[in-house]
Amino acid sequence: MPEKTALIYASVDGHTLKICEKLKQILSEYNQPVEIINIEDFDGNLYPFERVILGASIRYGVHDKKIVELINTRQGDLESKKTAFFSVNLVARKAEKSSPETNPYVVKFYKKISWRPDIAETFAGMLDYPRYSFFDRTMIRLIMWMTKGPTDPRTVKEYTDWKKVEAFGKKLAEL
Ligand SMILES: Cc1cc2nc3c(=O)[nH]c(=O)nc-3n(C[C@H](O)[C@H](O)[C@H](O)COP(=O)(O)O)c2cc1C
Repeated sequence: MPEKTALIYASVDGHTLKICEKLKQILSEYNQPVEIINIEDFDGNLYPFERVILGASIRYGVHDKKIVELINTRQGDLESKKTAFFSVNLVARKAEKSSPETNPYVVKFYKKISWRPDIAETFAGMLDYPRYSFFDRTMIRLIMWMTKGPTDPRTVKEYTDWKKVEAFGKKLAEL
């Protein structure tokens, strides 16, 4: 029996899910079965899985609290398995903030939890102003203005480096 991998994700607009689907495709090329699970629907039972990958996007500086809760309540289970974590955010579009060691959200996240995955990665996400509420659009435009990104409210831009996703998928397959 090939070992089973859980890909548990937290996504608001679906971009983290899109990355999960790509990772699943890569792992399936190695004949490794993957179950993609939305954290909203997860019952917390990690027992059936030998490998657990957690992926979450950043909203206003933080990862989904259910992912943090899962880590804190199931740390022992996680430590008995092969694990990986990835974070999706827009700050990671900048090369100097695109690794887990240099991305401010991952650095902050690691200060709050004691669990460490076997491997971690950071991916730049999706900017989609027309999709956001007026409040969110205004806030993100402000963040983009401060970080010298696009502020035109019509901007729709995917910053994800899919080659980096592929490389991460290959690392997962070897984990
Ligand atoms: C309301 C909102 C708040 C966000 N806050 C941040 C942030 O604080 N820092 C950042 O780098 N990216 C931020 N982003 C960008 C998201 O992380 C990015 O769009 C990501 O692709 C979203 O993934 P998801 O669709 O899986 O939720 C924010 C996006 C939205 C819509």
